[in-house]
Amino acid sequence: MEFDSLSIHGGYRGDETGATSVPIHQTVSFAGKTAQGLADVFAGKAPGYIYTRVANPTTSALEARLLVLEDGIGCIATSSGMAAISAVVMGLTRNGDELVASKGIFGGTVSLFENTLSRFGVKTVFVDAADADQVEKAVNKKTKLIFIETIGNPKMDVPDVPAISEIAKKAGIPLVVDSTVTTPAIFRPGDFGADIVVHSTSKFINGHGTAIGGAVIDTGNYNWSKGPFEEIKKASENLGRLAFLWYLRNVIYRDLGGCPAPMNSFLMLQGLETLGARMSRHSDNAGKLAEYLKGHAKVKWVNYPGLKDNEFNGRVVKFFKGQGGGLLTFGLGDKEKAFKFIDSLKLARNVANLGDAKTLVIHLSSTIFHEFDAAQRADMGVGEDLVRVSVGIEDFEDIKKDFEQAIKKAIED
Ligand SMILES: Cc1ncc(COP(=O)(O)O)c(C=O)c1O
Repeated sequence: MEFDSLSIHGGYRGDETGATSVPIHQTVSFAGKTAQGLADVFAGKAPGYIYTRVANPTTSALEARLLVLEDGIGCIATSSGMAAISAVVMGLTRNGDELVASKGIFGGTVSLFENTLSRFGVKTVFVDAADADQVEKAVNKKTKLIFIETIGNPKMDVPDVPAISEIAKKAGIPLVVDSTVTTPAIFRPGDFGADIVVHSTSKFINGHGTAIGGAVIDTGNYNWSKGPFEEIKKASENLGRLAFLWYLRNVIYRDLGGCPAPMNSFLMLQGLETLGARMSRHSDNAGKLAEYLKGHAKVKWVNYPGLKDNEFNGRVVKFFKGQGGGLLTFGLGDKEKAFKFIDSLKLARNVANLGDAKTLVIHLSSTIFHEFDAAQRADMGVGEDLVRVSVGIEDFEDIKKDFEQAIKKAIED
């Protein structure tokens, strides 16, 4: 099946009731038919569900669908994008290890790496990952993984995934790619050499701003029997390629407790059904809005990799089938104008989310990035006038009209 069909039918064909949508198994635990039966499930000798923190049938259906959409070998759905990233990094590192990460990534991920993981002795070296040479130079014997985003949120940079995957391969470590902004509708990182894909499914995959969630997909590219990960290497003796996900599910994910609520897994499955159609509309509208802003005399700058003259457009064409996604940033020159613009909008909403059907805007330096100082923010590509726009799937003329009147007010006042 092709992508749009897989996102509706993939990995789940219904149960004995004939229900056409995936039932919500709103339960904490699953009763064993016999004491021995439950013991066998615990021991991994028999298949079955035990406890929703480890696995749940509604969540399994979501995992099966994401798995086929990413063409991976296994998937674990999590309670949030941050839970997915935390589980992966905690599964692959220990005290004294390092990771190399892109500078332009989501502020919450930077905070996890810089503020939280550093307390446990895991150091992150941040580099400009759009330049693969910088990634290569930062990798050393202590590096256990490389972490990048497909399109940096909010730097809007596009790293060269195949080139960085070669660097990871040479070092014998996995490349972890956060594909939240692209989704499998635009880009499948595994096809370009990535080893692990993570998502915040709260965004475009959910698509309607109704639930927080995340996912980890093993693409099958990394050989766990060879890497520097002792516990996973040992597990690979019995489990082969599934060793990493087995270790996550049965140790890290289980211990950290970042499982999704079954209802939220249902909402993600519902969102997935229209992902392909929505992503092309998001990209279309974002492309048109970027062109409009670029041509506006009062707009100082626009950053959208889908624009032909953007420095990353070549990679958008090569890797993303020409679709630039739904996210863009622009500036009117200063913070005051950015605030006035946001306050004057009538259709677009001012929220810290992205990937909703609705157009969303936010002034980043005063919100998601407020805890970083000005120099750090500049390094991450977050200037004082930057407005991030998650372009929705409304009629473009309505989005344009709203921006037109709000820019006019911001400039006039
Ligand atoms: C690229 C990216 N990754 C991860 C996250 C974290 O996801 P969540 O909010 O679902 O924890 C976000 C959230 O904005 C994001 O934009």
